[in-house]
Amino acid sequence: MVWGWAVASIFILFVGMSMAELGSAAPTSGGLYFWTHSFSSPRCRNLLSWIVGYTNTIGSVSGVASIDWGCAVQVMAAASIGSGQTFVPTNAQIFGVYACILVTHVFICSLATKILARLQTVYIFLNLILCFAVIIALPVATPKEFRNTASFALGNFTNLDGWPNGYAFILSFLAPLWTICGFDCSVHISEEASNAATAVPWAIVTSIGVAGVLGWAINMSLAFCMGTDIDGLLDSPIGQPMAQIFFNSFGQNATLALWSFVVLVQYMMGSSMLLGASRQTFAFARDGALPFSGWLYRMNGYTKTPVNTVIYVAILSLLLGLLGLAGPSATNAIFSMSIISLYVAYAIPIAARFVFKNDFKPGPFNLGRFSMPVATISVLWMLFMSVVFLFPSLPQTDVADMNYTVVVMGGTLILSLAWYYCPKYGGVHWFTGPVKNIGSKEWDKGSSSTSGKQDKDSIAAKRHAEAELGGEKSDC
Ligand SMILES: *[C@@H]1O[C@H](CO)[C@@H](O)[C@H](O)[C@H]1NC(C)=O
Repeated sequence: MVWGWAVASIFILFVGMSMAELGSAAPTSGGLYFWTHSFSSPRCRNLLSWIVGYTNTIGSVSGVASIDWGCAVQVMAAASIGSGQTFVPTNAQIFGVYACILVTHVFICSLATKILARLQTVYIFLNLILCFAVIIALPVATPKEFRNTASFALGNFTNLDGWPNGYAFILSFLAPLWTICGFDCSVHISEEASNAATAVPWAIVTSIGVAGVLGWAINMSLAFCMGTDIDGLLDSPIGQPMAQIFFNSFGQNATLALWSFVVLVQYMMGSSMLLGASRQTFAFARDGALPFSGWLYRMNGYTKTPVNTVIYVAILSLLLGLLGLAGPSATNAIFSMSIISLYVAYAIPIAARFVFKNDFKPGPFNLGRFSMPVATISVLWMLFMSVVFLFPSLPQTDVADMNYTVVVMGGTLILSLAWYYCPKYGGVHWFTGPVKNIGSKEWDKGSSSTSGKQDKDSIAAKRHAEAELGGEKSDC
């Protein structure tokens, strides 16, 4: 928990630095998808953009699913604490709560986006306060019997899963990887930022730094205050080790109060994620690549938001949530899928910059001669982690415990490629990558020739539709 977080954070920072370089050179809201198209050779740029667009979409959808599922589990943990630990939810009940959360998020992301944007600042503060509550108040409140020695907190290694120790340690990376992810969001809002070529890369790097340090402090605090009965924490009727730790230290009422804020912050994070995912899907539908793109690329005249993509992402998330019915191992698949698919979408443009011939011009944020080594480390890291998380979380697998990541993610990728190469109707015959972004850099000569095929008026109309979205993009 403690050292896994520290090690993974450092590698995530490498990924962030590589992405920051791209963000500094080309701060466009198209981000990953657009970079891939402009750095790759003409022969494979359309296919690679297609893959990045799809993995980014899968990543966003499973991001929504994982956050909202986490929120549902937390709500049930609150119910369990409130009932004096007599209530133990079934998977079906958790799924019911999950579905309710998703439905309310659909309404929020379709209607109340302006309010959501204003609330953003409030819950960033709430989030920080929560962090400090765990870092400072938890050690103060923890009774003596639950306090751990430094040698236990920083030196005890308990392997409960039956994997070899080294691999068990690597599995602890899942927590930091899932928590410190989605930093491409800063890129999507770059067209609304002044001074984007400097602001965007620093936003990426500092947010990773802050999340890494605060998260590490939280994990240390938990490790020092959780007592030594690890099995007891994992098997507690509350169903959430973190809630059980709070319960042991703060007692029932204070835990319920603190836990409500945990739920609230998680809930708000879910709504932001759905908002971001629906806008990303909207942009990808603009280029016609998704099934039902015509229906998806439509603004609702009344709400002035892309209601169709909000519903689409929510339905896909609901379907993914069905995995949760199969039990905790299947739920893990949703979490790891959100990481792996985003990592594929990150790794392709970072690698494409060096693999293909292009006239990449570094922006104000650049690592000079360290660019290439840092990019190599980050791509290898993402490749390695993607392979690791395709393995099941327990060595002896059965239907409930198998890792569904490989099924859902592999299945979606294969279907998307099948559609790309489909004779006559497939993307290979008409997909030309992202619609050219206004004010793109000179080195992006390639994509101007492809977008030349597009009808100028339709581009203008699309731009207009996107401008209407402008107000909400910054929520990300
Ligand atoms: C870790 O802590 C547990 C629980 O106190 C103990 O049984 C185990 O021997 C410890 N392992 C090491 C390597 O210190």
